[in-house]
Order: sequence, then structure tokens, then C-alpha cells
Amino acid sequence: MYCIDFNNIKKYFGNNVALNDLTININCGESISLIGPNGAGKSTTIKILAGLLEPDSGDVLISGYKPNTEEAKKIIGYLPEDASPYLTLSVRENLEYLGALRGIDDLNYKTDFFLDFLKLREYERNKVSSLSRGNRQKLSLALAIMHEPKVLLLDEPLNYLDIPSQEDVIKYFKKMNSTFLVSTHIMSIAERFTDNVIIINKGQKIWEGEIKQLKNRGEEENASMEAVISEIMGGL
Ligand SMILES: Nc1ncnc2c1ncn2[C@@H]1O[C@H](COP(=O)(O)OP(=O)(O)OP(=O)(O)O)[C@@H](O)[C@H]1O
Ligand SMILES: [Mg+2]
Repeated sequence: MYCIDFNNIKKYFGNNVALNDLTININCGESISLIGPNGAGKSTTIKILAGLLEPDSGDVLISGYKPNTEEAKKIIGYLPEDASPYLTLSVRENLEYLGALRGIDDLNYKTDFFLDFLKLREYERNKVSSLSRGNRQKLSLALAIMHEPKVLLLDEPLNYLDIPSQEDVIKYFKKMNSTFLVSTHIMSIAERFTDNVIIINKGQKIWEGEIKQLKNRGEEENASMEAVISEIMGGL
């Protein structure tokens, strides 16, 4: 059984097809980066997996459960591309509130852990509305992962984070032993985080393989990996 099982998905918005027979299967414990130009369908894919959008056709299962079931919700950690914590609550209150809703047992320990790990301790009593963009993103990340989900659906997770925080978060993700689907436009992040990549364009898969292959092709052509990807993306 795949932990992320997304089969022949079609999704229309009006007459526009956002996903056109897209299949993404990820084994449990595996991590895949999802790459594609703006409007390719990355966020739509992630929202369907998170149970926020219904596909028009095709089948989706998360560890064998339909995405909008209670079972699936417990094992999913979802970070939307425009993630925002509750702006009028403090940093600590956000962690405590979301943690309580999720029924986390060791909530005090977890709250303190994330405050220190993400260097948010000095802001713990501050309202989120007063935080910098990067610190807001760090808190959103903590809220998405504090229940130790087995399946993580992360839409451009490291946007706005400073370089040391990116490093810390990637190390933490790698230790989690979870299944990851991560959308990003930044290849250096994809490369540090996952071995494999799926490239989509216009709602269709156009390339799937190891990041290493893209890198090697770049070296052969004396071009950057980004140039190789641009060429592939132009191919549809
Ligand atoms: N709520 C919506 N209503 C109408 N069209 C939508 C909606 N959400 C997405 N779309 C359309 O679906 C397509 C895929 O959008 P999506 O947000 O999944 O792209 P993306 O790959 O995440 O792009 P980006 O890199 O800009 O974040 C686009 O054509 C977009 O305009
Ligand atoms: Mg998007």
C-alpha cells in the first residue's frame, strides 16, 4: 500500500482543467519534491490530498483512508502555500490551542520544544500579527507538524525562512520517518530534502526521476539544473 495514492486525478475549475489525469504514488517513508511552473497544479494536488478539494474523477487514498476522514486527518500534516496562524493569538497560544484541538498529550513539552527549536522563544507572548513573515512561517510549520504526522503535505514550506532555520527544519524532517510530498520552486531545497522529483505542467506529469539525473544532465550540457528543468517544463 502507498502512503500517498493519487490515481488518475482530474480536477476542473469551470472549464479549465487544473489536473489532467495526474497520478502520484509515494511509498511510505519516501519523500518527493513536486516541481512545476506557476499554475501547473501543485497546490491543487496538495489540497486534494489534504481533503480540502474533491477531485472530479480518480481515486485518492492516504495510508488507505479517504482524505476527508477522521483517520486520515490524524495522520496528515498540511502546510498551505498561504499558511497563517491565528493573528490575534500569541505564538504560545497558537501552539497550545492547535495542540489541544489535536489532542496532543505532551503539549507543554511540545510547545516548549518548538519555541526553542524554531527560535521563537523571545516572541512567545507576542501576537502573531506583530511577527516578521519568516517567523510567522516557522510557527505555521510547527502547527503543521507538532502532532507528528505520518504523511506531510507541504506547499512551499521553507519560503521566507532564514538559511540556518532551513537547515534545522530539513534535518528535523529527515528524522521524522514520515512520507513527504513537498512543492517548491527552489531546487537547492528539493535537493537537500528529497532524492526524487516529479515535474508537472498544465496538470500533467511531464518528468519523474531522481534529482541526481537532472544534475548529471546539467553537468553534461554545461548548464545549471534549473536550466535543464526549464527545458523540460517547456516541453508541453
Ligand atoms: N479556487 C480556484 N478557482 C479557479 N481556478 C483555480 C482555483 N485554484 C486554482 N485554480 C487554477 O488551477 C490551476 C492550478 O493552480 P495551482 O494553484 O494548483 O497551481 P500551482 O502549481 O500551485 O502554482 P504556483 O506555483 O503559482 O503556486 C491554475 O490554472 C489556477 O488558476
Ligand atoms: Mg501553488
